[in-house]
Amino acid sequence: MKKVIKYLRPYWVFALLCPLAMILEVAMDLVQPQLMSDIINNGILGSGPMDENLAYVVKTGLFMLMYSLIGCAGGIASAAFGTVTAQKLGNDMRKDTFNKVMHLSFQQTDKFTTGSLVTRLTNDITQIQQFVAMSLRMFVRTGMQFIGGIACLLMLNVNFGLVIAVSLPVQLAVVTLIMRRAAPLFGIVQDKLDKVNSVVQENVTGARVVKAFTREEYEIDRFDRANTDLMTTNLRVQRLIAILNPILMVVMNASVIAIILIGGLQVEARAMDVGSVMAAVTYITQILMSVMMVGMMFQQVSRAMASAKRVEEVLDTQPVIADGDSADSEITEGRVEFKNVSFSYPGFGGKPVLKSINLTAEPGQMIAVLGSTGCGKTSLVNLIPRFYDCTEGEVLIDGVNVKDYEIDKLRGKVGVVLQKSELFSGTVSENIRWGDDGAPDDEVHRAAEIAQADSFIQGFNEGYDTMISEKGASLSGGQKQRMSIARAILKKPKILIFDDSTSALDLSTEAKLHAALRENLKDVTVIMIAQRIASVMRADKIAVIDNGTICAFGTHAELMETSDVYRDIYYSQMKEEGV
Ligand code: CTP
Ligand code: MG
Repeated sequence: MKKVIKYLRPYWVFALLCPLAMILEVAMDLVQPQLMSDIINNGILGSGPMDENLAYVVKTGLFMLMYSLIGCAGGIASAAFGTVTAQKLGNDMRKDTFNKVMHLSFQQTDKFTTGSLVTRLTNDITQIQQFVAMSLRMFVRTGMQFIGGIACLLMLNVNFGLVIAVSLPVQLAVVTLIMRRAAPLFGIVQDKLDKVNSVVQENVTGARVVKAFTREEYEIDRFDRANTDLMTTNLRVQRLIAILNPILMVVMNASVIAIILIGGLQVEARAMDVGSVMAAVTYITQILMSVMMVGMMFQQVSRAMASAKRVEEVLDTQPVIADGDSADSEITEGRVEFKNVSFSYPGFGGKPVLKSINLTAEPGQMIAVLGSTGCGKTSLVNLIPRFYDCTEGEVLIDGVNVKDYEIDKLRGKVGVVLQKSELFSGTVSENIRWGDDGAPDDEVHRAAEIAQADSFIQGFNEGYDTMISEKGASLSGGQKQRMSIARAILKKPKILIFDDSTSALDLSTEAKLHAALRENLKDVTVIMIAQRIASVMRADKIAVIDNGTICAFGTHAELMETSDVYRDIYYSQMKEEGV
């Protein structure tokens, strides 16, 4: 909740005006019963002549109308100030939370799960907004109605105090009892909502796979379970709340009857007039209504507290991968060194995925990384742009530990073509310009040419202005890979990493790509992961990875002489291709 107050601070003027306007509305509400009592006593039941009585009714009635218009204006102003405060606060909070999410490292987003982050950014912040808008108005309203109502009631007749003395404790006891049971459920509701969002998110993004495996029924079932779970918890909350108001209504009606009873006796004894009894009925209703409001507010407070805790969890997370100290270190050459690097994923039972890796890639060299699936190739290259940090040893670029660079400077010089090509909806050139928004057209074309993408792009009806649908669904696998390569080249990196990014290209296109890279990116260090020997034969050096360690390192010719593992892979692949 501390954070909510911090976000409220910039809008303190609105936050103050809101309850002030509300005071006006409630004050008018408190005056009304008194005027009504006057109309009854001096107008309707007045002792003067008929037309004088009528004139009194009209005059006082006009006053009542005027007061209620003033009250109405106060109410509108209060609602407006409250809404503005809540919307602005929510907007700031959402912006900061989104910012935080963008800077979390992979392992942290993995921990929160995408679905939960979505709920926190949307639904949880909305809960907080609703709470702020309501509490700014209701705390004042309820308090004034409660205290003012009691004061007015006692001023009419102290005997009414007896009714308050009985009904208030009963109402408060009911509210406390029910809210204590409901409060813990609000957090659970949000967690269940996370689950629903996770399933939706996974299935919407993975719609193609779901269809390909005809898993619709299974996934609908999975969604059903999460959804029903959410409903059940919500119903448990709502059941509790549903019994709250009717019970409070019974107490309220009983109190009204008691007031009429006591009032009647007082009128009989000529200690009170009828109008005042009517006013007393209105006051007791206002007082007990305000207790009902407290019940509602409890609900909102517990909801908002649960949500605030969840949003604060995100806001308070410190990105584990943060900028290093040497702000002025720049990558100028692109020499990559792994020194005794070991690495394990946090959730992998601490089992090392990479063990004591030593490897150097000189500027301008093309180093290939070869190895069976799951041996740790992607994990190895992920350490260079610090997608993850190594657990032991150090990764150096130009002799400086990657952890010491500013993240933006580091990632700005390392181009990565991921194993899975991710494109975005937009035109071809917009997608390539992800590498550098400001690049002129000829540079974009040049990058596409090197990536062997220019020819197929020219073949599209609208060339570089062709729209690509979401996630690049309108392109073939090999086209997507080449677009991703063009995007990375446009960035003019010093180090270029290909993570199995040519797997969908035929051998001749791949050979042309290699030749173009050699010719155009002479001083760029290229690290190329591949499964096919044919893809790595032309590299300056080849590192063969087996089970998280480098088991052989050298040129193709050297490895053919010295490494059994390499020779095995070579012959098995040559056999497959029928050579
Ligand atoms: N792994 C993990 N957590 C991740 C990613 C990977 O625990 N977030 C594990 C995998 O289960 C695998 C090992 O790390 O056993 C190495 O994974 P990776 O480096 O991705 O293997 P690659 O060699 O890149 O495999 P592939 O050729 O299939 O891409
Ligand atoms: Mg991989």
